[in-house]
Amino acid sequence: MASSLKNPNVFIGPRQGAALNAFLKKNKYSSIFIICDSNTLKHCLSPLVLSCISLKEAEVIELEPGEDSKHIEVLGSIWQTLTDFGADKKSLIINLGGGVVSDIGGFAASTYKRGIDYINIPTTLLAIADASVGGKTGINFSGIKNLLGTITQPKAVFVDALFLKTLPTRHIINGFAEIIKIALVQDKKFFTAISHLKINSNYNNAAVIKKAISLKTGVIKKDPNEKSLRKILNFGHTIGHAVESLFLEKEYSLLHGEAIAIGMIVESYLCLTLKRITKTEFNLIHKSLAVNFKFYKIPAEDLARFVEYLSQDKKNINKTYLFALLKGIGKCDPQVKVSRAQTGKALAYYNSKIANAS
Ligand SMILES: NC(=O)c1ccc[n+]([C@@H]2O[C@H](COP(=O)([O-])OP(=O)(O)OC[C@H]3O[C@@H](n4cnc5c(N)ncnc54)[C@H](O)[C@@H]3O)[C@@H](O)[C@H]2O)c1
Repeated sequence: MASSLKNPNVFIGPRQGAALNAFLKKNKYSSIFIICDSNTLKHCLSPLVLSCISLKEAEVIELEPGEDSKHIEVLGSIWQTLTDFGADKKSLIINLGGGVVSDIGGFAASTYKRGIDYINIPTTLLAIADASVGGKTGINFSGIKNLLGTITQPKAVFVDALFLKTLPTRHIINGFAEIIKIALVQDKKFFTAISHLKINSNYNNAAVIKKAISLKTGVIKKDPNEKSLRKILNFGHTIGHAVESLFLEKEYSLLHGEAIAIGMIVESYLCLTLKRITKTEFNLIHKSLAVNFKFYKIPAEDLARFVEYLSQDKKNINKTYLFALLKGIGKCDPQVKVSRAQTGKALAYYNSKIANAS
């Protein structure tokens, strides 16, 4: 499936070394920094360097794995390393990892010396299908997901699904949530094709991955700075980010896609109550998410805290919640006003009828 989706420059397929070598040769960077976490350092760095000889001299910046690394102190340590090693305007950052690495590495690149080039080499399904493409970078701040960040496009994205071989199954399933989302908001036929799939450890479906990326890049090309259309990609994320933030405080934290799956079901129920989807469509979405995801309850004692997180959502304007909501399966409106009472009802329905019921 070797191919390139132009602008943003996404190269998809096995053996990306040659394309990467050509890219590096053409751009003549003064120095190269590879950001990875300890897992991608262990599993992905050697194959990458072996396939692309130009990377032999690159400096490696290693982060702790996990969401906690999207932290201002970690960002500071990346800036410090760049400074210590004399990175200049012609330096390049390569983010080799999942969404955590590409989010913080992209943010570091977009701010260092007012911006240097970066490329993404995603190694998780979530990063391949979503996080590595589109240029959203960022870190969490004050316990709030992605509060600080930029939209800065990577110079290129090199996607090789072979990296998924070492990815734990829970993380493969996690990434599938974003594939379901992109189908739900844009392509009914694609949703129908993938809605029944039970994801396992070997999941590496080139056609599905390519379709998900091309749907996302199609949106990014039309609205890179999220003025309007791009907001449809936030379906499931208004509730999902609040769920993710809440569970970050708990012993058992949820992965991004796991939280977004909950967000998609609650927001689908909102769509149902607002007569934007039918009961049959709601049931289809529910059934499809239940194949791979667990619906954890939002404990009653946490609801006030949950509403606080919802109020922090970047899409809110004048204290009104603005959701990206489906208009039938395969279509989505980017900004739909929803009252707090309607949101409260959807949460109550989720907690009483759906959570822990799958
Ligand atoms: N910028 C965007 O557009 C965007 C979109 C969606 C999600 N995100 C962000 O992405 C983050 C989640 O990304 P993620 O799910 O990729 O998590 P992640 O980056 O934490 O990676 C998941 C785990 O898998 C390990 N790992 C990565 N690649 C591996 C491999 N090939 N083999 C073995 N282990 C490997 C990592 O070390 C980590 O432990 C969240 O912070 C979320 O907010 C960003």
